Amino acid sequence: MRFPRILPYTLWALSLSVYPARVTALTLDVQSADSIKDTASKIAYDLMSRYTGNNTGDVPGNLPAPYYWWEAGAMFGEMVDYWYYTGDTTYNAEVLQALQHQRGKANNYEPSNQTASLGNDDQMFWAFAAMSAAELGFEDPPEEDPSWLALAQAVFNRQTSRWDPDTCNGGLRWQMILANVGYDYENSVTNLGLFQLSARLGRYTGNQTYIDWANKIWDWYERSSLYDPREYRIWDGAHTTENCTDASHEQWSYTYGILTAGMAYLYNHTENEVWLTKIDGLLNTTFETFFPPSMGTKIMVEWTCEPLGVCNNDQKSFKAYLSQWLARTAQLVPARYDTIMPYLRASAVGAAGQCGADGKNCGHTWNTTIPDGTQGVGEQMSALSVVQVMMLDNANLKPPYTTNTGGTSKSDPSAGTDGSDVGGETDYNHISRRAITTGDRVGAGAVTAGVLLFLIGGTTWLVWTG
Ligand SMILES: *[C@@H]1O[C@H](CO)[C@@H](O)[C@H](O)[C@H]1NC(C)=O
Ligand SMILES: *[C@@H]1O[C@H](CO)[C@@H](O)[C@H](O)[C@H]1NC(C)=O
Ligand SMILES: *[C@@H]1O[C@H](CO)[C@@H](O)[C@H](O)[C@H]1NC(C)=O
Ligand SMILES: *[C@@H]1O[C@H](CO)[C@@H](O)[C@H](O)[C@H]1NC(C)=O
Ligand SMILES: *[C@@H]1O[C@H](CO)[C@@H](O)[C@H](O)[C@H]1NC(C)=O
Ligand SMILES: *[C@@H]1O[C@H](CO)[C@@H](O)[C@H](O)[C@H]1NC(C)=O
Ligand SMILES: *[C@@H]1O[C@H](CO)[C@@H](O)[C@H](O)[C@H]1NC(C)=O
Repeated sequence: MRFPRILPYTLWALSLSVYPARVTALTLDVQSADSIKDTASKIAYDLMSRYTGNNTGDVPGNLPAPYYWWEAGAMFGEMVDYWYYTGDTTYNAEVLQALQHQRGKANNYEPSNQTASLGNDDQMFWAFAAMSAAELGFEDPPEEDPSWLALAQAVFNRQTSRWDPDTCNGGLRWQMILANVGYDYENSVTNLGLFQLSARLGRYTGNQTYIDWANKIWDWYERSSLYDPREYRIWDGAHTTENCTDASHEQWSYTYGILTAGMAYLYNHTENEVWLTKIDGLLNTTFETFFPPSMGTKIMVEWTCEPLGVCNNDQKSFKAYLSQWLARTAQLVPARYDTIMPYLRASAVGAAGQCGADGKNCGHTWNTTIPDGTQGVGEQMSALSVVQVMMLDNANLKPPYTTNTGGTSKSDPSAGTDGSDVGGETDYNHISRRAITTGDRVGAGAVTAGVLLFLIGGTTWLVWTG
């Protein structure tokens, strides 16, 4: 999709004039481990100070409103990475507590408190965190708690049981529950999330069943309207009521990251060159779409919403995942390290430049050191993610483990299948709060409507004045 250039950028420029130039911003030296660690630690401090789950009376693992449950899972996953990249253990205890507390009664990240808006993709971000903890050798939970690997296996078991061969020839629906808005939507992030988790479980455990699932999901996905295999384009999703033929053509950076890294795990494990070709195609499209020359040189941008200033809280965190997964791809596909890293280096310097010198209140627009006036958990996560992966250049990090290379997280292939929390015990207070907020997450759709109105308005304005 192309946006008319004049109006958004005029607004963007106007918005800059409202915010005074920051006296000092963080300056990052991507060649210096000390500089990276110092910068990351400042940004992480501000990020974790926004987390209230360890306050007396609060619930471990939850972020305060307006942030959704899934983003908390993503944040703790990023904090596992933070420890891995920097060696800083400051937040490990809180991270471990949060990841265990939210596992739910059946140890499968379907906690009953979240039933009213529990999407498969939401659950997946918690599974990603648990899987990273297993792969990176994060501190194990106490013996009586489920292992990191078992938590990831549980989510795999739950989601594969929801694979729906009867609609759209296959695929996983966005939501788990019929009553939730989005149950009739099969989207890329959901299906690619399960694809990535399957690939990671296959590589970690060596169990072919997971690899077979990764292949099965890919075979379905590649033929679906959610993907353009010629251009390597990932669309947002499509409706079951239309047999999934009505793909909506927004593009989000995190789906590209999730798919590319999923293929990187598969390629690393199978050494099948077919995956490498697809990785190359996806990298090309990713660079072209999310690092366009109009932003400067190799600076990451959430193209569908950021230049228009309409990214919602979810979307403001997406650059965190693209950064994280591109870095993981560079690690698992050393042959593409030099292709990927220049994009992350330039973006890391840019991201640091959007943060105050104390690492606080990072903005979202990485091609300027003038604050863009935004701040929040998503902005902080995105900046931290792209900064911390700079340690790849500057430290001898152990690549993600498999059980053959040092991974010791205990396997439980049937984890999470002994009954689900979903639809079980009900906390009505929580549900009514979430039910209202679910509406603004119908995400892609609502944003699209907003963008469309904006475009129509903008175009009309151009026609009228032009
Ligand atoms: C929550 O964690 C932060 C960071 O580790 C710590 O400073 C704070 O004291 C903790 N709060 C409580 C109530 O445990
Ligand atoms: C669910 O909500 C209740 C009430 O707020 C809280 O006590 C409990 O810890 C929550 N459980 C989880 C897993 O978040
Ligand atoms: C739905 O689409 C699939 C191809 O993806 C096709 O095989 C199937 O026949 C279609 N079903 C209906 C009811 O149109
Ligand atoms: C990716 O881009 C490079 C450089 O433009 C090109 O040589 C290569 O063929 C592209 N790969 C794919 C799979 O499209
Ligand atoms: C930053 O990106 C915006 C588009 O989002 C563009 O208008 C502006 O020229 C860019 N600034 C620089 C310094 O490249
Ligand atoms: C898999 O990843 C490891 C660790 O980075 C690397 O040494 C190995 O070469 C990778 N395998 C392939 C096929 O790229
Ligand atoms: C491999 O994974 C499948 C699916 O979870 C499971 O049924 C099977 O027992 C596993 N095999 C081994 C050897 O762990």
